[in-house]
Amino acid sequence: MTIQTVATTPFAGQRPGTSGLRKKVSEFQQPGYLENFVEAIFLTLGDCGGRTLVVGGDGRYFNRDAIQTILRMAAAHGVARILVGQGGILSTPAVSCVIRKHAAFGGIVLSASHNPGGPSGDFGIKYNIENGGPAPEKFTEAVFAMTQSLSAYRISDMPPVNLDAIGTYRLEGMRVEVIDPVADYAELMERLFDFDAIRALFKRGFRMKFDGMCAVSGPYAKAIVEGMLGAPAGTVINGEPLEDFGGHHPDPNPVNAAELIALMDGRNAPDFGAASDGDGDRNMIVGRGLAVTPSDSLAIIAANARLAPGYAAGLQGIARSMPTSMAADRVAEALGIACFETPTGWKYFGNLMDAGMVTLCGEESYGTGSSHVREKDGLWAVLFWLNMLAATGKSVEQVVSEHWARFGRNYYSRHDYEAVDAGAADAMMTALREALPALAGRTLGAYRVALADDFVYTDPVDGSVAARQGVRIVMSDGSRIVFRLSGTGTEGATVRLYLERYEADPARHHLDTQQALAGLAAIAEDLSQLRRRSGRQQPSVVT
Ligand code: G6P
Ligand code: ZN
Repeated sequence: MTIQTVATTPFAGQRPGTSGLRKKVSEFQQPGYLENFVEAIFLTLGDCGGRTLVVGGDGRYFNRDAIQTILRMAAAHGVARILVGQGGILSTPAVSCVIRKHAAFGGIVLSASHNPGGPSGDFGIKYNIENGGPAPEKFTEAVFAMTQSLSAYRISDMPPVNLDAIGTYRLEGMRVEVIDPVADYAELMERLFDFDAIRALFKRGFRMKFDGMCAVSGPYAKAIVEGMLGAPAGTVINGEPLEDFGGHHPDPNPVNAAELIALMDGRNAPDFGAASDGDGDRNMIVGRGLAVTPSDSLAIIAANARLAPGYAAGLQGIARSMPTSMAADRVAEALGIACFETPTGWKYFGNLMDAGMVTLCGEESYGTGSSHVREKDGLWAVLFWLNMLAATGKSVEQVVSEHWARFGRNYYSRHDYEAVDAGAADAMMTALREALPALAGRTLGAYRVALADDFVYTDPVDGSVAARQGVRIVMSDGSRIVFRLSGTGTEGATVRLYLERYEADPARHHLDTQQALAGLAAIAEDLSQLRRRSGRQQPSVVT
């Protein structure tokens, strides 16, 4: 067994996006492609002697191959100990939990989140630091710079480790521990939520469907919801992780989780529906005939946080990404705590949580989480809702209506234009940016523009600045139009248009969302010429 130094040349385009490096599987399968990126991570980390790392993924196609390569490279870089989920499985929040619990130096997450899997799908890799969260931009930029100047990588030639049997193995001088992917995470959830109350709820006949979307959260939901909480077998549907996610698009939104939505809309619907994504960090909450928007879910969790034992002492603060609706801001105000507005990307929440400035974080992209880990956490959000429903005895629909009645409703929708020509999308953003200075004070339709800018974030903890984070047009009544280009797409450009309108009057809380936002949508089209520029008559996905 020897450690080899293999000559290599740089690949273009290995710059991590919103959440790590995501590419087509075929791109990752090129000889040296994954190795180069992993080498760049190790070189950026520096001396790994004596360190513990964690590695795991969402089980998609290429996960196992990638893990074996990473293990052999970790051994070659002197890593002392590496924890791997059995079968190569660890949800993204579970990686974060395991890093923190075992005081690891960091971890490697293998996932392209909600992007389709399989040989013609996507693959992804990202590095998480010792707080359990995604590495900050200065790290990912250093990794990228390193990928551009590599001439060799180091790797052991030892045979593959058996990932399917829990136990301890040796690879060169490195100790490989294959661990139960669920145990540490389940133990943490049990400390945060009132499992007795939730068990009693299921005993009373409460019915739930959790859609694992054939991705990583199935085993977690089965062990916790059906196992520890006593929900009947069959509560978890699509609960086996498959390499191609059964051909589905494992993104928990009303479009991609259509099966669950139909079930919740139908006669004899269960009391509660929920779904998670490819790597288990996203969530969707569904009541009877009602999909709760992620922005509302964040606000409702914030308003009810004290019901969960782990949050009984109250919240330190809340943070939301800029395009996320301002519903949480109203709750923060009522609670007398701060609400921070960050760029899109969970990594921006890390400093705020580490500094003890916020407890809860959320994004419009079906991500909710807290400082219990440093990733968003799908099943955690579902358990929070279960705890809330168990403690109050109310239905999802009741909780939501009562929240709107108290705080007002932020009508909210995101329109995605996917796989648009990148040049056309860039031209649209440039034109919008150029139009910004002349917009403030102008009347557009029924609205008056109060502020128009390209969002710039200054991190209050380390002072780092992230510019060009999205064009926002804020109206005098608080309504907003936001444009951004997605940082997670793998084909052309994805234009995201976010629309938000505040309605205080309870008599107007049950309008059709798209109708309620039609006036803003028309203004957005006028300003951007998005249809003409993209050549699309309508968005590819509306959530
Ligand atoms: C991932 C990130 C989130 C982000 C989402 C959408 O899930 O972890 O932080 O909100 O992607 O990002 P995008 O750049 O595609 O809008
Ligand atoms: Zn995800």
